[in-house]
Amino acid sequence: MERLQKRIANSGYCSRRKAEELIKKGKVKVNGSVVTELGFKVENKDQVMVDDILIEDNTKVYILLNKPRGVVCTTDDDKNRKIITSLIDTDIRIFPVGRLDYDTTGLILLTNDGELANILTHPSSDIEKTYVAKISGKLLPNELMTLKNGVVIDGKKTKRAKLKIKSYDKKTDTSIVIITITEGRNHQVKKMFEKVGHKVLKLKREKYAFLTLDGLSSKEYRTLTIKEVKKLYSLSKKEK
Ligand code: URA
Repeated sequence: MERLQKRIANSGYCSRRKAEELIKKGKVKVNGSVVTELGFKVENKDQVMVDDILIEDNTKVYILLNKPRGVVCTTDDDKNRKIITSLIDTDIRIFPVGRLDYDTTGLILLTNDGELANILTHPSSDIEKTYVAKISGKLLPNELMTLKNGVVIDGKKTKRAKLKIKSYDKKTDTSIVIITITEGRNHQVKKMFEKVGHKVLKLKREKYAFLTLDGLSSKEYRTLTIKEVKKLYSLSKKEK
């Protein structure tokens, strides 16, 4: 026997707190009857539905997080730094899809769906990721072209990238550049700019395929809609 909210949270459908809200709102049915009592106990054989969706143990979770600075994208860290999953209120074991550096902020997906994670992170997936980079100095037109066409990092040329210079600040001698890449190599953006003589001072991922950070402040997250998950699956098959 376990508490109804725990059963819902353990399925990965939502957090325990959210499950409690749903129960109070009368959105949860046990064996076809609405239950609004928080302490209600259920057995394995009981059928639980939320908004008429059957809750099963293998429910997949998909989270879009606005990652803050100072967090590692691994599920444990030998240096005892803050780990990304500690920002998410769930009992389910989830992991990040790819990585953002400790000091990089912005959009990152977390899931327990290994199949989708593999598809999205596969080198052939060609999913567009857009970053806003604050770099040292002024990016010259020839450097911009070089980066667009690809530079050799770690012995391999980067695929074509899109770049746009947003601004240049004379006082601090820094530029803001928007860069879109389709790969996910280690420290890729930093290494690309380094290659043409500019240091990345700040880096934020603002877009991943069609997903944006709209409505999410730093540390905030939301679950993906079923439509978004389906779109991610289909993206990796056709449109890039
Ligand atoms: N490129 C980088 O250099 N760092 C990141 O975190 C992401 C892309």
